[in-house]
Amino acid sequence: MYTKQDEQRLYELAKNLLKKDGEDKGSIEPLREVINFADRKYYIEDEPVLADVEYDTLFKQLKNLEAKYPELITEDSPTQRVAQGLSEKFPTVNHLVPMLSLDNTYNADDLYDWDKRCKEFAGTDNIEYCVEPKYDGASISLIYENGQLVRGATRGDGVQGEDITVNAKLIRSLPLSAKFVESGITQVEIRGEVVIHKDVFAKFNEQRAAEGLAPLANPRNAASGTLRILDPQEVVKRKLSAIVYHISDYTLVEGQEVPSSLHTHYDALQWLYNAGFPTPVKEMKVCKNIDEVIAFCAEFEQRRDDLPFEVDGLVVKVNDFEMQDKMGMTSHHPRWAVAYKFKARQATSKLLDVDYQVGRTGAITPVAKIEPTPIGGVTVSSISLFNEDVVREKDLRIGDTVLVERAGDVIPYIVKSLPELRTGSEEEIIFPTTCPVCNDKLERPEGEAVWRCVNINCAAQVVERIIHFASKSAMDIRNLGDSNIRKFYELEMLKDIPGVYKIDWSAVLALEGFKEKSVNNLQDAIEKSKEQPLNRVIFGLGIRYVGETTAKTLASAVQNLKDLKDWDEEKLSSLEDVGPKVASSVVQFFRNEDNLHMLDELEQAGLSLENKLYGNKKAGGVLEGKTFLFTGTLTKFKRSEAEEMVEARGGKKLGGVSSKLDYLVVGADAGSKLEKAKKLGTVTILTEDEFLEMLQ
Ligand code: IVH
Repeated sequence: MYTKQDEQRLYELAKNLLKKDGEDKGSIEPLREVINFADRKYYIEDEPVLADVEYDTLFKQLKNLEAKYPELITEDSPTQRVAQGLSEKFPTVNHLVPMLSLDNTYNADDLYDWDKRCKEFAGTDNIEYCVEPKYDGASISLIYENGQLVRGATRGDGVQGEDITVNAKLIRSLPLSAKFVESGITQVEIRGEVVIHKDVFAKFNEQRAAEGLAPLANPRNAASGTLRILDPQEVVKRKLSAIVYHISDYTLVEGQEVPSSLHTHYDALQWLYNAGFPTPVKEMKVCKNIDEVIAFCAEFEQRRDDLPFEVDGLVVKVNDFEMQDKMGMTSHHPRWAVAYKFKARQATSKLLDVDYQVGRTGAITPVAKIEPTPIGGVTVSSISLFNEDVVREKDLRIGDTVLVERAGDVIPYIVKSLPELRTGSEEEIIFPTTCPVCNDKLERPEGEAVWRCVNINCAAQVVERIIHFASKSAMDIRNLGDSNIRKFYELEMLKDIPGVYKIDWSAVLALEGFKEKSVNNLQDAIEKSKEQPLNRVIFGLGIRYVGETTAKTLASAVQNLKDLKDWDEEKLSSLEDVGPKVASSVVQFFRNEDNLHMLDELEQAGLSLENKLYGNKKAGGVLEGKTFLFTGTLTKFKRSEAEEMVEARGGKKLGGVSSKLDYLVVGADAGSKLEKAKKLGTVTILTEDEFLEMLQ
């Protein structure tokens, strides 16, 4: 852990390094120190100290220096987290100590019983307990030797797991090295849980949906699946986190006494936290007796959804290590720890029928209708089955008893059917061969998992496109919800996306249930949506494979949306995160006359297709007093546009490199200006992307 003085020193150091050109090999160690510090603040303490651009600049400096002086690369350098190439299949390894499971309790009575047994095994009535969250992820074992992370392994069958060291090193909240050696510890095995932040998981699934892929079921499956992915780039994308909660084994230098922090669980986790590990210190509570434990469990369960990770209960542990040793373990679980499981968010229900919904891209989604069942405080009656393959893989039949899970903020899903409960009267699920709404034919393109209705004028598709356009992540037109859109469409008051801006309000007022006030609100919301930035408009258009992130990329690459008419696949593919599939879909969209006509209509209705980042004086201010110069071949924007953007935000463009220059934005093949700026040492050098990020 860093003291206040350390923090101040490292912060100053970061600022000084940012001013440097990154040519001096003496900067290598300070850069590592600063990056490790920034990682700790960001990934463990959730208090970022550097802007993303600053962090990236320092990281790049370190990478460049290490490329220049490869003999100075160390295994625990932050750059070594970026694995290259594909991993081989993961070898099987033995755990130093078997990874046991936990016994479960579900209520206060269970906990009283467990407390009674603890007292018998411990031989005393005086037991202190430590309570912490039970993280719902994939368990991991980590071995550090002489302070260096040397192995990460999955749980496997508890005795043997898979060696996933390469992927463990990609988890930024786990330190690659820690100062155990100073405590006389030469080897230590630490247990923890690999998890995915709920919001990261939600974003990830959004992206999958935009790409026409079935979402991953829950953060737990996503974490355990990701640990076994062989492509490190894909692993990095999934942004895994980890929390460690147990030291299962350690070896001391001969003659060394057990460090004082290793006498109780609470102190041990505090010590690990100070040594750079993510541990549950902020969520843990030491309880004097089981009544305190029970009260804490009840209170914690109320706020289980407030944590950034999914938790499925709490773990109660005997705090004193000597007492733990005395109590020992069964072959299945330690006697000194128990899980207190929160109310189930799983339940069984009956699969009554399957409906087929038509999405805005014509995708047919099977939706299971189940007997309404309360799960975790919500009654669930319909559940998406995503596509035909999911239905087949799960071998679902109408009439089946199914196990349903609803994890936290995650949408409910069917875990599996319970074929052992079949009576023989269950029926096969037969997929439709024509569109359930317009009756046109369905196609399943090769390599895709979804069937699609081929008729782009299919009523269901049109309505869904309008719903998407008005939705929260797109134009965010409050009050224009699904039911209003459906109603207006049915009454032929709204027939397409531009129609949103042409609704006949006197006709709406005449409808039953529409009062003047609600109609005014609706009108205001629609009017206000005309101010939405271009990325939201692009996302709202529902171009296939263009999710929110890609929409932002496209928006920042153009001055006006219609510029994209002239972009070909190659130019589009040069943008970050735009692959061939997205590029081809964007090109198709802008080649279609109907779509271009729709853009004209939107413009006529008063919607701006301009990228407001360009030349919108109102946005100003963020670059107040900062000076910029552009050099080299720019590919993401024209030089004149870039200069306009700078000025719009209160910045100034300079004609040459001098001590007055703050930022030099470099494109390809930058020459003497870059050299001069580097020599000067006071200029921050930015790539085009970094520049665009600054504007956001
Ligand atoms: S202690 C011998 N603490 O729950 C130590 N486990 O259902 C046993 N888990 O396999 C583990 N959070 O993967 C412990 N705070 C926590 C935990 C935790 C999640 C997982 C762990 C274990 C499973 C048992």
